[in-house]
Amino acid sequence: MHHVQPQFPEQTLHVLTSDADETMLQRAKRARYPASSLKDVPANWKQSAFVCSNGEYQLAEQFRGLVRFRQADIRVDTPAESFALILCRNLVFTYFDEPLQRQVLAALSERLLPGGSLVIGKHESLPAKTTGLGPDPARLGFFLRA
Ligand SMILES: C[S@@+](CC[C@H](N)C(=O)[O-])C[C@H]1O[C@@H](n2cnc3c(N)ncnc32)[C@H](O)[C@@H]1O
Repeated sequence: MHHVQPQFPEQTLHVLTSDADETMLQRAKRARYPASSLKDVPANWKQSAFVCSNGEYQLAEQFRGLVRFRQADIRVDTPAESFALILCRNLVFTYFDEPLQRQVLAALSERLLPGGSLVIGKHESLPAKTTGLGPDPARLGFFLRA
């Protein structure tokens, strides 16, 4: 973001994260990771976006400050705002039954801006005959809203 921001100073990144479990939200707020969790993060990103102490990496305050946290049960409660990108991995399309998957997918799709992307886990799939979202051929797990 700090490379992009100077080129587009009028753009601001808003990130909302949600989970039903307050403990998980507290953990996410701390944004501390062992080196092994960041093995796929490029070294220059690690250096510029994280602060390393005692072998742990914490996301720098300038990035943590962009994130809002919301406790919500995704089965019944999706945020009112619209998003360009929704990441929904390792919950809905792995653990929920198909009617519930369809119900949550409909709610998430409504919250996606036209042209926006829904990203699911690479081993997950959307329910058969899903309409209104098409796979992005260039990126595994990305579905674009028409
Ligand atoms: C397997 S973890 C996946 C976390 C993350 N998406 C990832 O891929 O690393 C599932 C998460 O879903 C949360 N969760 C379980 N049921 C939920 C619900 N009904 N609504 C929202 N979050 C839920 C759990 O607390 C847990 O943090």
